[in-house]
Order: sequence, then structure tokens, then C-alpha cells
Amino acid sequence: MNEDIMNEKSVKFGLIGFGAWGSCHANAINVTDGAEIVAIAVRSEESQAKAREAYPEATVYGDYHELLANEEVEAVDIVLPSYLHHEVAKATLEAGKHLLLEKPMTLSIADCRELVEIAQQNNLKLAVGHELRLSSLWARAKSLIDEGMIGDPQYVLVELSRRPYRHGAEGWRFDLDRVGNWILEEPIHFFDLARWYLASAGEPETVYAKANSRQPDHPELQDNFSAIMNWSGGEYAVVTQTLSAFEHHQTAKITGTKGAIWASWSGAMDRTRHPTFFLKAFDGEEVREIELERSAGELFELEDQIAMLVKAIREGGAIACPGEDGMWSVGMCLAAQKSVDENRPVNMGEIL
Ligand SMILES: NC(=O)c1ccc[n+]([C@@H]2O[C@H](COP(=O)([O-])OP(=O)(O)OC[C@H]3O[C@@H](n4cnc5c(N)ncnc54)[C@H](OP(=O)(O)O)[C@@H]3O)[C@@H](O)[C@H]2O)c1
Repeated sequence: MNEDIMNEKSVKFGLIGFGAWGSCHANAINVTDGAEIVAIAVRSEESQAKAREAYPEATVYGDYHELLANEEVEAVDIVLPSYLHHEVAKATLEAGKHLLLEKPMTLSIADCRELVEIAQQNNLKLAVGHELRLSSLWARAKSLIDEGMIGDPQYVLVELSRRPYRHGAEGWRFDLDRVGNWILEEPIHFFDLARWYLASAGEPETVYAKANSRQPDHPELQDNFSAIMNWSGGEYAVVTQTLSAFEHHQTAKITGTKGAIWASWSGAMDRTRHPTFFLKAFDGEEVREIELERSAGELFELEDQIAMLVKAIREGGAIACPGEDGMWSVGMCLAAQKSVDENRPVNMGEIL
């Protein structure tokens, strides 16, 4: 690590949650210049023992309130089951700590809005874990759009085919009271990307969605999901996902008044450091293979996300996905679930 940054200027992180994704966050903090993991809070003694073994320099707690009372902790990274996000994020901001909060930001718009307000009042950074915005692949597609390569964007498709979800600690991911809905799990990233890619068109106005399940006893756990989002100028986006497949394969196709972009990522699983991926772009005249600066994948993006927050805290750099955008992502998912449940298009004004 860069010693100058590591010394007194390093941002001291407390991590809350040390499960499948939390342990990846711990590693990302540990390897990022200017970040240091000084405390971890996790529920069970078994996970506390694992955290102590992996990070002997960090203080490990069973109660997150104790971590928040630790004055050394400057920024908190919350990687908890989604139903706990609001309670713990609110306590974090009220304790005066900067915050990286995993997606979905919370399970309701009122709760998201409250966090945005507390962060603003206390002048704290609030970043939401939509790490695809930091990707060498998905973010390069965004910069091609912003550079005008395809003209005005008019159509976005984001598609994922993958293996089923894991259950999560105490089965939280398979319980609607604790997960909210499954659209808030993975499609939330794609709603976020689609809205980001179509930012020049303003905000989406309506969402219409369909879903089904291959589990007869659990129709609420939707294995297949598709949504179409509409903008007032006629632009639209399709977000579609199946969990009834294998491995992890994601595609984005974006077309504009002049050209088109095709981005693709494949791995044996989502958390691989050895994926295959490509980015091709057509400016109306020629198709070009776009060279990427570094490997793409959520493990890499997680490290970039920690570096982004360190920079924002130390130098006032931009937050890739601030609370307001995290709230919109939750809003699009809630609208999509309402549309599935009521079999009708839902206006975003009904939700936000
Ligand atoms: N951005 C992304 O791409 C991405 C990817 C995956 C997950 N996520 C999000 O990250 C979050 C966590 O997902 P995960 O897959 O890591 O879940 P997980 O494997 O079930 O881990 C949850 C962790 O939270 C801990 N925990 C539960 N209640 C707690 C409490 N009251 N105090 C302290 N710790 C508590 C659990 O403790 P024990 O270990 O003791 O049970 C476990 O370590 C979810 O919101 C998920 O949506 C985001």
C-alpha cells in the first residue's frame, strides 16, 4: 500500500456484516490505498471468530452500537440483510460517520428519504452500493454515451441470466419481510444502469413488469422477471433477468440516434476474478472493439467503490451513487413489483 496515504490520512472503516458479501467488502477495504479496517460488527460468535482470524488488527463486536461508539471509526460500511439497512444506516449517520450502504438502500422510499436528509443535515457522505457505476465495462459504456458516440440514447436493454440466489444468513433472502422483494436484490442494479444511461432523457415515468416462479409453493419468489420503463420523450428501457439458468452472464445493449453499444460480461459465477467480457461500439460508421483499462467484475468494482469513498471524504471527490440515486433505484423496483402484483403500468409518481 502507499505509505503516505496509509499513515495518518487513511480513512478508518468500521464494517457491519461479515457474511458472503461483507467478507468481500472487508478484503476490498484492506487492499485499498488510504483505507483501513479498524472494526467489524457481526451477529454470531462463529462469524465474529472468522472476522478476528482474518483481521487480527480490527476490533470485533457482536453489537453494532459498540462499533458506532468507537471514535476511531470515521466511515461505516453496512453489508447487512436488507431489512436492517434503514435502522443501522440511521444510527450510523446520527453517530456522525460517513456511510457506504449496500443496495437496496432501504425497503421504502420514506426510509431512503430520511437517510438522505440526515446525511445532508450532518454534512456526511452517503454512498449506495451500486458498484456497476464504477466498472471498467458498464461505466465505459456510460462515458461513450456522454461523449456522444451514439447520438441521443433512445433504447437500453440490460439482461442477466444466472444461477439461483443463495439463502443468506438465517434464510433472509427467501423471506419477503426481510428481503422486500427479489427485484430489490439484483434487477435493482439494472434499473440503476438503465436510468443512468438514459439520464439525458430525464426521469422515467412509468414501469410495466411481468414475473413468474418455478416454485409452485412460493409464487412470490420470482425466478423470471422483465420490466419495461418509459420516458416522456419515447425513450424506453428493458430490464430482464432469469435466476433459472446457470453461471452468470450479463449484457447491455444501448442504441441512440446515431449508433449503438454492446457490452457483455460472463463468469462461472458473479464473484470471479477471471471473467470474459467485451465492449463494442458503433458510431454510425464503423464498429470498434473498445479496449478496457482494467478487468471488469464486482470484486474489482468493490475496491474502486472504497477508493471512491476515500477520495470523497479526503478530497471532496464525487460519490458514484449518492443517496438520491439509491432512492430512485428502490423506487423503480417498488414500482415494478406493484406492476407485477396489479398487472398494470405503474406511474413513478405513485411511488416517489
Ligand atoms: N452490490 C452487490 O452487488 C451486492 C452483492 C451481494 C449482496 N449485496 C447486498 O449486501 C447485503 C448483504 O448480503 P450478503 O449476501 O452478504 O448476506 P449474508 O451472507 O446473509 O450476510 C449477512 C451478514 O449480516 C450479519 N448480520 C445479520 N444481522 C446482524 C446484526 N443485527 N448485527 C450485525 N450483523 C448482522 C450476518 O451475521 P452472521 O454471519 O453472524 O449470520 C452476516 O454476516 C444485502 O443487502 C445484499 O442485498 C449486494
